[in-house]
Amino acid sequence: MNPFNAKNIQQNLEVSGSVKAKCPSNIALIKYWGKKDIQIPMNPSLSFTLNESYTETTLAYSPKTTDDYSVKVYLDGELKESFAPKIIQFFERIAENIGFLKNFHFELHTHNTFPHSSGIASSASGLGALSLCLVDLEEKLGAEFLEGEKTQKASYLARLGSGSACRSIYPGITVWGETDRVVGSSDLFAIPYPYQIHENFRDYQDTILLIDEGQKEVSSTVGHNLMNNHPYAERRFSSAEENLGTLIPILESGDLHEFGKLVELEALTLHAMMMTSSPYFILMKPNTLKAIEEIWKFRKETNLPLYFTLDAGANIHMLYPSTIKTEVQNLIENSLKSLCHAGKYIQDFVKIS
Ligand code: DP6
Repeated sequence: MNPFNAKNIQQNLEVSGSVKAKCPSNIALIKYWGKKDIQIPMNPSLSFTLNESYTETTLAYSPKTTDDYSVKVYLDGELKESFAPKIIQFFERIAENIGFLKNFHFELHTHNTFPHSSGIASSASGLGALSLCLVDLEEKLGAEFLEGEKTQKASYLARLGSGSACRSIYPGITVWGETDRVVGSSDLFAIPYPYQIHENFRDYQDTILLIDEGQKEVSSTVGHNLMNNHPYAERRFSSAEENLGTLIPILESGDLHEFGKLVELEALTLHAMMMTSSPYFILMKPNTLKAIEEIWKFRKETNLPLYFTLDAGANIHMLYPSTIKTEVQNLIENSLKSLCHAGKYIQDFVKIS
């Protein structure tokens, strides 16, 4: 039996109320790209959970008797009719894990700290926050959880909504996808990174250059599917795993240049997979490449450990230790800001204690 199946709920479901949760976005260093079955990743991934870019969700529930799902979604107080089908699809997928979804009418009030059109995926933080609300509600209605089980179930549910969302449930560095290289890792949920992290990574900065604010031309879901029958897929899946293996001692030693080189390789490999899919596609924009050139030039001139990664889009995540914040800020003001859409960028960081 699946340990994440719906729990016994003793309580009367003729109740109304609300639960609230907050969940950040994350940026993968070792990328998840390619999946099978129901949201099972083809390779392990590792990410930094962010701090400033998060979703806050209040889930209000009231009893109903009809045999269907009933949800209304509000973003910043505004009813978003178009969001409900996605949530209902998620509810259908987690029906065996959460037993009371048809017993209530739900109103989801959600707020992102980052602009909706910024290109930062709100699916990871949004589905993470909703999953946290649902396990909270399950507990509130009388389900019992062992230590750590509730968070793990939230990660399991989030994965079924959007793969990368399962990593956002935990702060700091997280790993998703079963691999011999990481003890306790699973395809079904993410875990907090279990090994030593050098203090060089404390308060590691992530400045997100908003190169393009438009809707992505190819969704992640479509991109993942294009990894089926991709000529380089198998090699990619094993190189992600190898890269994770290489990263573990780097995180321990704190070698920021080795770290950055590996992270850039992962980012460019992800985009190389897109460019060699059939059909092929490119999500980077001319300014993405210009920004990369500026970062490489800066590094050549200063030898400071400023590196980048990319998600499935045109934006650049600049990763660097907080000790070089001033130098990076100058670079942003002098050369990078003008490459961003309306000069916009987001300052974030990963908190590792
Ligand atoms: C490039 O998690 O958005 O950001 O599971 O289909 O919802 P779905 O995909 P999603 O894919 C994220 C892809 C990525 C890499 C990563 O976050 O690991």
